[in-house]
Amino acid sequence: MSEHIHKEAFNLLCGELIGHGMSRQVFACLLRDDLVVKTESDSRRFQNVVEWETWQRVKDTPMAIHFAPCHSISPCGSVLVMSRTRPAGLDEFPKLMPAFLCDFKRTNYGVIAGKKGATTFVCHDYGTSLLFENGMTKRQRRAHWWDAF
Ligand SMILES: Nc1ncnc2c1ncn2[C@@H]1O[C@H](COP(=O)(O)OP(=O)(O)O)[C@@H](O)[C@H]1O
Ligand SMILES: [Mg+2]
Repeated sequence: MSEHIHKEAFNLLCGELIGHGMSRQVFACLLRDDLVVKTESDSRRFQNVVEWETWQRVKDTPMAIHFAPCHSISPCGSVLVMSRTRPAGLDEFPKLMPAFLCDFKRTNYGVIAGKKGATTFVCHDYGTSLLFENGMTKRQRRAHWWDAF
């Protein structure tokens, strides 16, 4: 298929660039405003893949409430579709967080609307979480929240 068609497909799916980090760019999804599209072009980082695999493992467990759900991933993992969070207000950051989460930069976390007006505070950057190291423990630790600027 031509490169032109690939670009067209990308522009059909992705709108405004809403964020970027060490390894990824994150776009609003033009097809559904409750989703984002995370693209990863750096080699050998695999954070999209780790997020996808993490979500597959936690999604049917009580731990799911701590993670922004993943919805789809491209065959080689460069493009990940995730639920869109809204930025958390300063009073919404919990003092204690599960021991398998880390990187407490405020912009790595957000809020998702739940049922009946409820909200859930979730991590949307969990490509480097400590789930491999600590497992799905119920242990919590004090979170030292910080801002990049
Ligand atoms: N699910 C999401 N919903 C809304 N914004 C997001 C979401 N995921 C990431 N972002 C925004 O994009 C930025 C970069 O994404 P992030 O997952 O932190 O990438 P990186 O692994 O490169 O740090 C975040 O700091 C945040 O502002
Ligand atoms: Mg980040």
